[in-house]
Amino acid sequence: VRDGNGVKGLVDTGISEVPERYIQPLQERIMNQHDSRVCDVPPIDLSKLNGPEHKKVVDEIVRATETLGFFQVVNHGMSLEQLESLKEAAHAFFSLPTEKKIMYRPGVTPMVKYGTSFVADIEKVMEWKDVLSMSYSSDEDALKYWPNQCKEVVLEYLKVSSKIVRDIMEILIVNLGVEPDDSIVEHLIGVKTVNMNYYPACPNPELTIGVGRHSDIGTITVLLQDGIGGLYVKVEDDNHAENGEWLEIPPIPGALVINIGDILQILSNGKYRSPEHRVKTTSSQSRVSIPVFLMPTLTEKIGPLAEMVKKDGLAHYKEVLVKDYVTNYFAHVHAGKKPLDFAR
Ligand code: SIN
Ligand code: FE2
Repeated sequence: VRDGNGVKGLVDTGISEVPERYIQPLQERIMNQHDSRVCDVPPIDLSKLNGPEHKKVVDEIVRATETLGFFQVVNHGMSLEQLESLKEAAHAFFSLPTEKKIMYRPGVTPMVKYGTSFVADIEKVMEWKDVLSMSYSSDEDALKYWPNQCKEVVLEYLKVSSKIVRDIMEILIVNLGVEPDDSIVEHLIGVKTVNMNYYPACPNPELTIGVGRHSDIGTITVLLQDGIGGLYVKVEDDNHAENGEWLEIPPIPGALVINIGDILQILSNGKYRSPEHRVKTTSSQSRVSIPVFLMPTLTEKIGPLAEMVKKDGLAHYKEVLVKDYVTNYFAHVHAGKKPLDFAR
């Protein structure tokens, strides 16, 4: 963390041009995305999982997971009011004075890390983004250590998200031919983190990025984005080869975005897709997004499930320790899907 008050602090000083360290090389800039296609897949209604349309909804989830690796859900258990207060809580946190925010710098308060950009120390060019990251160990710790501006609503969101992911994971596991077993599902999503991303309005949006291209590390991510937009996902063909197209995941009021991460791609032997995605900056308004990351414990080993290896006749990935995968992942920020090579 080089700037105590983050990118927001920088913008609040009234800069009219972005500093050098935020200027992306040409190939990483997100230009002319106004002519890119918007994903028009309707959001999946999770409440229908408990009714006569169960099978149809299951098929929609499986198809989305096997193709784009991104989909949106509604009737997920978070009300519009709760989603609004979550976004407001994010704005409330980032609007705090620097002295308050730096109390959440890494190493000061347990379970919480406030900082700027992705991994500032190894990044050559910084993202136009500040982050508050909250790890979960127990409700008690969450309420004790997470910032007052957001802790209650974030904890509620984490609980609802965990339930959504448990239901989706069970569907996805069963679809791979694995016996549904609560302990497998629980262990794939045992480590839970909630981030709040804050992307200030940027004077030179054509030169910067909010988040550089990456795939998520974990099993499944749940994401709340506000109404600003700017999240793009890379389309791949059946062999995980990119076709070059960036598809926008549009903001849908009341919806949550679900996406697949690398660890689930590995477990499924490549059947489920952990796609590259990125976020652009805008000059008009600040944007917030609030992802929940779920993954197995660091001491676990992960590799393609035996059922899939048998079905496919070979393993497309090797077994790796989650801890090693994580270390390797953070050594390759903004390198797209490069971290996955570690498991090949
Ligand atoms: C991310 O994928 O890192 C952030 C997504 C978003 O802000 O919409
Ligand atoms: Fe992501």
